[in-house]
Amino acid sequence: MPKVLIEKLDDYGRGITHIDNKVVFIKDALPNELVEIEITSNKKKFSEAKVTEYVRKSKDRVKSPCPYFEKCGGCHLLHLTYDNTLTFKQNKIKELLKKNKINKNEEIEIIKSDFPLYYRNKISLKIENGKLGYYEESTHKLIEIKECIIAKHSINEVIKNYKLLNLENAKLTIRANDNDEILIIIETNEKEYNIELAKLKEKIKLVGIIYNKITIYGENFFYERVGGKLFKVSFDSFFQINENITTKLFALIKENIDESSVVLDLYSGVGTLGIIASSKSKEVYSIEIIKNAVLNGIMNAKLNQANNIKLMLGDVSSTVDKINLNFDTLILDPPRKGLDKKTREFILTKLPDKIIYVSCNPNTLIRDLKELETNYEIADFKIMDMFPFTYHIESFCVLNKK
Ligand SMILES: C[S@@+](CC[C@H](N)C(=O)[O-])C[C@H]1O[C@@H](n2cnc3c(N)ncnc32)[C@H](O)[C@@H]1O
Repeated sequence: MPKVLIEKLDDYGRGITHIDNKVVFIKDALPNELVEIEITSNKKKFSEAKVTEYVRKSKDRVKSPCPYFEKCGGCHLLHLTYDNTLTFKQNKIKELLKKNKINKNEEIEIIKSDFPLYYRNKISLKIENGKLGYYEESTHKLIEIKECIIAKHSINEVIKNYKLLNLENAKLTIRANDNDEILIIIETNEKEYNIELAKLKEKIKLVGIIYNKITIYGENFFYERVGGKLFKVSFDSFFQINENITTKLFALIKENIDESSVVLDLYSGVGTLGIIASSKSKEVYSIEIIKNAVLNGIMNAKLNQANNIKLMLGDVSSTVDKINLNFDTLILDPPRKGLDKKTREFILTKLPDKIIYVSCNPNTLIRDLKELETNYEIADFKIMDMFPFTYHIESFCVLNKK
């Protein structure tokens, strides 16, 4: 077994070392630790390994509060204190900016989650042969769980009582709102269901069950109250997974919208950011690809007395250039793949005064910022810790036209 010194962490929170000039990625290993490893996969350019013995542990190492951490692929940083996970994220962004030669002189501020555990309002699990769990990282091996310490307590109540669903093999998605009401979404090949509804309703505040896209109990949506606003959210509509950070995100959006501006809000989900912006702006135009989310958005505009917002259904890339709109502020909140080429070109033709870019993937964010940097300067760059104890990084950027 080779004995190696861990040099630093990679983007996914794995320890990095080199053996004969080849990089080796090691799960659950921290910088400055001396560990004995076993190579688990040997590729041309890199190897992967697991620790067989910790010869010298890092002073930063803490005991993971989750018993499944070593195997489960959901969290990546539970062997660090919360503050050290934040430093990891700050360093990652600093390195990315430096590597891409993007100027950002001031410190990158990080907005903490007030609840770094039990925060997720949506999780997806597998049920196999009646057992419930997550897949082990990069495998289809089920890790049975009895609790998930990053999911909200109300979701954990469903986990505790999942046997009442009487499912053998299924994908189970559980969503909870701010009031701990639960929506259960089941996808399965099983033709018949036998859910012990009365018992389940004694244990949790059940709003609805959707079985292979059909609502078999209650509603197929819930209401979510965040940042003083009320949102209707259908089972298939996106909603930010951390309510505490979402409240802080809403405050930042509002702060950065100029009075009487005309806003284009792309990738708008159920209309959240557009509705927040609408209280200060003259008009807001939103575009979103999921039909139910747009319908939710129309209802949400009414629920929140946002009368100056128009919500449109469409693919951003093929819709933006058809709407012939003059706008001065652009809100972007794309999925992980970031902006496509056509959308970047559209922005560079329109050149709005201000761009507010909310991103859940720093790699595509930096790629897009590189394209925009000739015309825009970064006025603000914050990390919002939407996904505590995982390597995922949510960023909030404000760009001003030069
Ligand atoms: C990260 S979410 C942001 C949603 C919303 N801004 C919020 O804060 O809740 C990204 C949204 O973009 C939508 N989306 C993904 N690809 C799209 C596309 N090509 N055109 C329009 N919307 C898209 C998704 O359905 C999702 O609602």
